[in-house]
Amino acid sequence: MKIPHGLLLGVDLGTSSVKAVLVTGDGQTLAAGSAEYPIIQTKPGYAEQDPEAWWQAVCKAVRMAVKMYGESARITAIGLSGQMHGTVLLDGQNEVLAHAIIWADQRSAHQVQEITARVGLERLTALAGSPVATGFQAATLLWVRQERPELWRRIEHVLLPKDYLRWRMTGDLAAEPSDASGALLLDVRRRAWSDDLLSLLEIDAAWLPPLQAARAVAGTLTAEAAAELGLPAGLPVVTGAADTACSALGAGVVEPGEMLLTLSSGGQLLQPLTEVRVDPLGRAHTFCSALEPEEGAGWYQMGAILAAGLALRWLRDNVLGLTGADAYERMTAWAGEAPPGAGGLLFLPYLSGERTPHMNPEARGALLGLTGRHGRCEIARAVLEGVTFACYDAFSVLAELGAHPAAVVLAGGGAASRVWQQIVADVFGLPVRPLAVSEQSALGAAILAGAGLEWFDAAEAARAWASYGDETAPDPARHAFYQEAFGAFRTAYANNATLFGALGRLIPA
Ligand code: XUL
Repeated sequence: MKIPHGLLLGVDLGTSSVKAVLVTGDGQTLAAGSAEYPIIQTKPGYAEQDPEAWWQAVCKAVRMAVKMYGESARITAIGLSGQMHGTVLLDGQNEVLAHAIIWADQRSAHQVQEITARVGLERLTALAGSPVATGFQAATLLWVRQERPELWRRIEHVLLPKDYLRWRMTGDLAAEPSDASGALLLDVRRRAWSDDLLSLLEIDAAWLPPLQAARAVAGTLTAEAAAELGLPAGLPVVTGAADTACSALGAGVVEPGEMLLTLSSGGQLLQPLTEVRVDPLGRAHTFCSALEPEEGAGWYQMGAILAAGLALRWLRDNVLGLTGADAYERMTAWAGEAPPGAGGLLFLPYLSGERTPHMNPEARGALLGLTGRHGRCEIARAVLEGVTFACYDAFSVLAELGAHPAAVVLAGGGAASRVWQQIVADVFGLPVRPLAVSEQSALGAAILAGAGLEWFDAAEAARAWASYGDETAPDPARHAFYQEAFGAFRTAYANNATLFGALGRLIPA
């Protein structure tokens, strides 16, 4: 591969922060920046963000990366990655009409049921590749129509989060299949907006931007955006892809048979597919990847769990009240001091409902089996194990649908912990290969930027750029032990599933 001299800027609009990386054509990260924004929660279950706050954070993160590198002249193209499923509404003047309703929002539970009933689960998964969940654009749009008719009447454009950023950068409205499939309005096989779904749900097709390939150059940086970002005007901006699709590229997981587990705010378990294979029971998602089918595995199947790092954050902030940069290390070190099984303590991580496999926004968390002998070490271990069991639950679904990986690539913040690596290896009974780089979604965005400039083939760069730390082998005895504990984990949910809804109704409005 001939390596051009320029730099690629990858920008990943995450759920709590945006990351910007400056990368060479052979995948060396030379500088990085990040900036946070809040999740606005005006009511329980609501999760909104201000698109202007996204943009300001992007400007800050990009300026930080450029400052760290020293100059912006070598930057040759920009690629984008973003949190999936969310909804940005624009009026006829392309002005933002309201805060974005993001993927973690749960107000649309009723609309999820309505969509599933109107379309039918089998037809929905056959067409869209996936069941609908709260926070997905299709469900959010129906909520807006029913609950905010005055807002509905003013809508002229509907965008996904990273597509809004690109609009701010170039002034072009566009979308691409990986993120569009997460809106649940795409025909996942044809990789085109689904006329059937749009007409069944009575959504105006003219609101949705035209689709193009994730690696296509979407436009160039306007003078105004360039001034705000501190970058040269006219830089090509590549369309980009959904964060999970970019994450697979950045982690080098692009072949069927490979498997990626990302432990970040949520947890995602995905395997690339060269053809569409759906779960007719609607427990897992099949989305378009960042590659077009002629470039490689054009789809992936994914189990998504809602609270991974979020469960640890809950433990840190709401239970242990830990502060300081080493709080996560301290918690995982405590977990390492407790035995497998956490001394009979079991944690259900459903702090904000669950997607795979339960698809139940009313599911709730639990600590079961507490005794007076349990302390912070057992609780920390139970949380790591409970999150891992939830991921293994998703794995069981993908395995039932045909996945038989030889190893698991582990990415996200959780990948850095030796204790967690071992728990994943032992629960899954598979070797765990930790990704050596963080920010793999931003790297995936940079790969798309390079592919857009025709520097390389995206799948080839994904394989060449990824590097992994030492593999952690599973211990057969602990795997056997965890198989039994996993049985208890499943039973704990099954036995309490109806109670969760009843408890929810006890909360004063
Ligand atoms: C995937 C999902 C999350 C968001 C978070 O289905 O909901 O991964 O993309 O960024």
